[in-house]
Amino acid sequence: MADDGVMPVLEVARLRKEFGGLIAVDDVSFRLLPGRSLAIVGESGAGKTTIARVIVGLERATSGTITACGHDRSRPPRSSRERRRQGREVQMVFQDPYTSLDPRQSAESAVDEVLRLHHRWGADRRRARVAELMDRVGLDARQSRALPRSLSGGQRQRVAVARALAAGPMVLILDESVAALDVSIQAQVLNLLADIRDSSNVSYILISHDLAVVRQLTDETIVLRHGTVVERGPTARVLDHPEHPYTQQLRASVPRPGWKPWRRGRPGVLS
Ligand SMILES: Nc1ncnc2c1ncn2[C@@H]1O[C@H](COP(=O)(O)OP(=O)(O)OP(=O)(O)O)[C@@H](O)[C@H]1O
Ligand SMILES: [Mg+2]
Repeated sequence: MADDGVMPVLEVARLRKEFGGLIAVDDVSFRLLPGRSLAIVGESGAGKTTIARVIVGLERATSGTITACGHDRSRPPRSSRERRRQGREVQMVFQDPYTSLDPRQSAESAVDEVLRLHHRWGADRRRARVAELMDRVGLDARQSRALPRSLSGGQRQRVAVARALAAGPMVLILDESVAALDVSIQAQVLNLLADIRDSSNVSYILISHDLAVVRQLTDETIVLRHGTVVERGPTARVLDHPEHPYTQQLRASVPRPGWKPWRRGRPGVLS
């Protein structure tokens, strides 16, 4: 229980993950309350994706515990029923939606597949829910019937979000989910995420290099360096008054509002 008596939807305690001799995640602990959002920031290789992969069960923790909705998920599920329940607790949207979508499956059948897995609903109810989710993520009827290859990056990312939401998760993990998209599409997907956050009780973990996005979407932030949490707190406090030199450095190394994506004399070159 948290201090205010609310049960966390997710609790990560003393998580450690080693790959051979490399310690990718070292003694990481945090809690996520219902409807709240947490950012994990830190330089490339800091261990952010590894934490996410361990939480969803794609990697096994070396030590430490992960509890979602009161259920221990540090060990692999023992039955398909338990696996499905875990899928309803935590869903993840990956960085590249193209590789996480089946190229032969239309957007709506990809979403329907998740509904069939998690709910014992008849065809009519599923059809209605698919339409609702498509509407939610802003895909029209034609886009819903399209295969991934005929959708744009932003549209594919929305299919991935709709698919994750179809499971009805308590926690949604977004790992650099908008980083690969161009700026205007990024804004659309971010607005969608802000919308979902405001209108449902889903909790988020947002992994991002973009501190403006972190500021817009999250309540709390943890700063990871070499697998260890060096700073944590309310997002505004961490970003505006960073205490750790590493956070200060991280903040100084990212573009500011008003930043233009070119250097003097080299228009069009991303800096
Ligand atoms: N399957 C793996 N086998 C071996 N080492 C791995 C594996 N996955 C990750 N690592 C290593 O663990 C460390 C953390 O990687 P991770 O992908 O979690 O970083 P990250 O913070 O997500 O970085 P980025 O911002 O670049 O995505 C890195 O040194 C990486 O090389
Ligand atoms: Mg990563």
